[in-house]
Amino acid sequence: QIKGFVFDLDGVITDTSLYHTKAWRQLAEKLGVTWTKTLEDGLKGISRMDSLEIILKAGGIENNYTHDQKVALATEKNTNYVNEIKKMTPDNILPGIKAFLDDLRDNGYLISLASASKNGPTVLERLQLTDYFPKIVDPASLSKGKPDPEIYVKGAELLNLPPEACIGVEDAAAGIEAINAAHETSVGIGDAQTLAAADVRFDDTSQMTLANIKAKMG
Ligand code: G6P
Ligand code: MG
Repeated sequence: QIKGFVFDLDGVITDTSLYHTKAWRQLAEKLGVTWTKTLEDGLKGISRMDSLEIILKAGGIENNYTHDQKVALATEKNTNYVNEIKKMTPDNILPGIKAFLDDLRDNGYLISLASASKNGPTVLERLQLTDYFPKIVDPASLSKGKPDPEIYVKGAELLNLPPEACIGVEDAAAGIEAINAAHETSVGIGDAQTLAAADVRFDDTSQMTLANIKAKMG
């Protein structure tokens, strides 16, 4: 029986995945790396330094920079991203999410956050959703990022629930893989091809309701 929900943030609760993409694309093109949809999708759910490494490898330039230079590049991207999220308001909450969180709370489900983003708490504040997420996995505490299950295992642990009693919600293929490997039920938000491994899938957040999830879980 499902008792808790473990949420990804970027691309699920809010449209910040657009800002991550914009900031990475700007950096990639400055470094002469060609931006593609495959590169873009492959970065979703991936930590800051791992994302940079993927971009540099896509351009075959991963050995052109020292560790300190890579840290500086990642910091440059983050500065641009942080500037974007400063402008955010509750209007940036994706359709249906506020009602869904209220419904979960009213029905006694426990809720935690499993975002790889170190900016997660700031984004929740901007959205005025902090109160809904009393339990947040600290991405700095992880030994491995998504698609490793660690972040979703910790998300369930924070709720004192076994993974089998949790649903994980994700927009990224790496995230769905992490949820499945953690033995939670996976709900994917996005296109069928990218999220083929999801137990339940919706095209967008507006369709994600408790009733619809139950119906699809059978
Ligand atoms: C999420 C996003 C990624 C982002 C990562 C780290 O997983 O989907 O696009 O790279 O968080 O975010 P951060 O804010 O710590 O750089
Ligand atoms: Mg995401």
